Amino acid sequence: MTKVGVALVGFGTIGTGVLEILQSNRELIQNRTGVDIQLKYIVDIDIKTPRRVMPDSSVKMTTDYKVALKDPDVEIIIELVGGTGFALQLVEETLRAGKNVVTANKALLAEKADVVFGLRNEVGKVIGFEGSVAGGIPIIRTVTNALAADNITALYGIVNGTTNYILTKMSEEKMDFKTALGQAQELGFAEADPTLDIGGFDAAHKIAILGALAFNCPVPYQQVYVEGIDSVDLIDINYAAQMGYVLKLIGIARIDADERVEFRVHPTLLPEKHQLAAIRNEYNAIMIESKYLGTSLYYGRGAGSRPTATAVMADIISIGRSLDNPERSSKYQNFNNYPVKPMGDVESRYYLRFNVRDQVGVLSGISGIFSEYSISISSVVQHETKTGDHVPLILTTHRAKESNILSALERIEKLEYSNGRGIMIRILD
Ligand code: HSE
Repeated sequence: MTKVGVALVGFGTIGTGVLEILQSNRELIQNRTGVDIQLKYIVDIDIKTPRRVMPDSSVKMTTDYKVALKDPDVEIIIELVGGTGFALQLVEETLRAGKNVVTANKALLAEKADVVFGLRNEVGKVIGFEGSVAGGIPIIRTVTNALAADNITALYGIVNGTTNYILTKMSEEKMDFKTALGQAQELGFAEADPTLDIGGFDAAHKIAILGALAFNCPVPYQQVYVEGIDSVDLIDINYAAQMGYVLKLIGIARIDADERVEFRVHPTLLPEKHQLAAIRNEYNAIMIESKYLGTSLYYGRGAGSRPTATAVMADIISIGRSLDNPERSSKYQNFNNYPVKPMGDVESRYYLRFNVRDQVGVLSGISGIFSEYSISISSVVQHETKTGDHVPLILTTHRAKESNILSALERIEKLEYSNGRGIMIRILD
C-alpha cells in the first residue's frame, strides 16, 4: 500500500466534499488503487464554524498553512482556496517545498499559467487540476491522455454550471434572473463572486485551460473573447425558442485551416436538436472534434461540492499511484505559437433583433445594408405589437463575417426608423 500524506487548504464547498469522500471511501480507494490517503491537516481561516462533514481527531485543524508545508509526511497540498492572491503564493511555496499540488482553481491556472506551470517544470513536481474544468467530468484527462494521439480541431462546451442553471430556469420555468442566480448560489454552484459566472469569465478561464491543452498552445487569458449572460433578455430566449433554438453560454476553442486559434465564450443559440442544447441545470458538456476519433461528447455535473470533489480525489490518487516515479510529472514542451484570430474575422450564423417602426421601406432598407456587407438573410419574422409604434423584427443570417455584421448593425442603428442598436446572438450549427 502506498501511503500518501495530504493537507487540505480551504475548507469550503469543495473541501467539505473531499473530506466526505475520503471518510466514506478510504477503504474502497485502498482496495481499488493501492493508495492510502492520509489526511493530516485541514487549513482554513475559519476552523470554528461547523461544516456538514467534520474530520475525526486524527486530522489537525489549523489556520497556519506553514505547519503543513513543513511536515515531511505531507506530499500533496490540496489548494481549494480559490482566487489568484493567496492561492498563488500557496502553490508557489508548495512547489518550492518539493511537494505536489492538487487544485480546482481555474482562475489561478488560466491567469497565472506561465508562473505556475513554469515553476512546476522547474521543480519537477505534479499539479493535478482535473477539478478546475467542468467539475466531475474527467475532461483534463480526456484531452491530455485519451486524445493525446489525436489532432483536436475544435472543442465546444457548456463549462459553467451556474449560468447553465440560470438559463435553464429562465427558459423552462420563466424564472427571473435574480431568483435563478440566488438558487445557484444556495446550491453551491456559483463562485464567491458570481460576476465571474454571469460575466462569462469563469467559462473563459476554463476555455483558456482546455484550449491550451487541446492545441498545446497557451493563449493568454486576456486574449479569450468574453461575453456573459448578464445582458441576455428573456424576450430573445422566447423568440429563439419559437424558431427552434435554445440559448446557452458556450465556450469555443477552435483551430482553423490557416492554424489560427479562436478562444471565445458568449451566449449562443443552438438548434434544439444539437446535443449541447439538451444539457440542463448545472450539468456541463464538452463536445470535441478530433481528426481520428471524430466527434465525442463528455457530460456530467459541472459544479457543486461532491462532483468537483471526485475530480480532486482522482488527482490525489493519480499522484499517489506514481509517487515512486517522479518522471510522471509531464513537462509540456515545444509549445505551438498559433496566432489568435481576431473576433472580426470569426464567421458564424447570427440571430438579430431590431426594434423598428412598422412602416414602408424598413425591410428593404435593412436588407439593402446587409447585401452591401455580403450578409445573406436566412429567415425573417416580424412580430405585431399593440403597444407603441415600434415592432420587433427578427432575422437570422447565413454564415457571415463578424466584422460585417457589426458594421451593418452600426448602419442600421442610425436609420431614422430604428430604435436603438440591434441585438446580436451567434448561432452554432
Ligand atoms: N462556478 C462554477 C460553475 C463552479 O458554476 O461552473 C465550477 O467550476
